[in-house]
Amino acid sequence: MPLLFEPIAIRELTIRNRAWLSPMCMYSCNAEDGMPNDWHLTHLGARAQGGFGLIMSEAVAVTKDGRITPQDAGLWNDEQAEAWAHIVKFVHDQGAAFGFQLGHAGRKASTYRGFPGEPKGCIAIEDGGWQTLGPSTIAHEGYRAPRAMTRGDMDDVIDAFTAAAGRADRVGADVVEVHAAHGYLLHEFLSPLANDRADEYGGSFENRVRFPLEVIKAVRAVWPQDKPLFVRVSATDWIEGGWDVEQTSRFAGLLQRIGVDLIDVSSGSIAPAKIPATRNYQVPLAAKIRSDNTILTAAVGLILEPKEAEKILISGESDVVFLARVALREAAWPLRAAFELGLDATEIPYPPQYTRARFDLIPAE
Ligand SMILES: Cc1cc2nc3c(=O)[nH]c(=O)nc-3n(C[C@H](O)[C@H](O)[C@H](O)COP(=O)(O)O)c2cc1C
Repeated sequence: MPLLFEPIAIRELTIRNRAWLSPMCMYSCNAEDGMPNDWHLTHLGARAQGGFGLIMSEAVAVTKDGRITPQDAGLWNDEQAEAWAHIVKFVHDQGAAFGFQLGHAGRKASTYRGFPGEPKGCIAIEDGGWQTLGPSTIAHEGYRAPRAMTRGDMDDVIDAFTAAAGRADRVGADVVEVHAAHGYLLHEFLSPLANDRADEYGGSFENRVRFPLEVIKAVRAVWPQDKPLFVRVSATDWIEGGWDVEQTSRFAGLLQRIGVDLIDVSSGSIAPAKIPATRNYQVPLAAKIRSDNTILTAAVGLILEPKEAEKILISGESDVVFLARVALREAAWPLRAAFELGLDATEIPYPPQYTRARFDLIPAE
């Protein structure tokens, strides 16, 4: 059995394989109401049919102001939860697990989605943008300066994350992943490049991790004990003086102690940086965190080929892999991967409707 198709058990959840759909914003709530629609159903549903073990939602906003763009999906009200319930059920019916990535965009909120032919960058207030929040008033390059969060704002954000986690549970999600990467709110607290607070939430490592830990601890307290909790991190800012892999590794140890089960290891996006984005470039970051701690890790980033993914798992660099862009090209990537890695045809998770397309039944030439 290739390791990529070995089920993995985390708490009371067993996921059918280790090829997981990475969170990807679709910016497709065209009514700007955070409501997932047929696009989200078919996009996520097709990848569940395509054999992914875990279907992770896009970064779902926990507050309206925490959206990256006006078209982001949300989980800040019960109407949105109801719409998600339908999608979660469909994904489950295909044999996949469903996770919500919960996010708050912080100082990187209020931007255009930047589809081809559309404007890019920060939306001005007069054009429908909104005042963003951040740990400090340091602006993301080219964006409006955020308002530095008060203790009251911090409590509101904690409440929004826990309310969203409660809804995620009620609609049957199996996993919650807290988004603490890519220059969004929680990463902004972690990184000295965005956080120059003079109180107990800025300065030292202990202070910068304090608010993210408060949020994640609060989520763990409401998220059922039998369900796994993940955190996505940017393991390095790729900038001298920023957040780095040593700090991430320490942070991972703290997260494990508060009941986080898996660290999903991405990198960058707090500020423009030179990133060596070659094949599998973030895998060594996952490997470092995995070797320093005993927490499960996910690798992501330019993992394209089944054999590469299998090699990463066999070498012990990570426990699972997330796939993003390659899964946009090929919704059923895991079905091909299973065939190429030699999984017995009867064990490949083809939907019964698709079994006539089995790789072994159709001559290659
Ligand atoms: C269209 C698109 C949207 C994305 N949205 C998110 C997101 O909502 N949350 C997140 O953590 N990462 C997001 N990412 C990053 C991916 O999850 C992934 O980490 C990154 O694309 C690298 O993996 P890949 O080389 O397999 O694409 C997005 C990437 C793409 C291409």
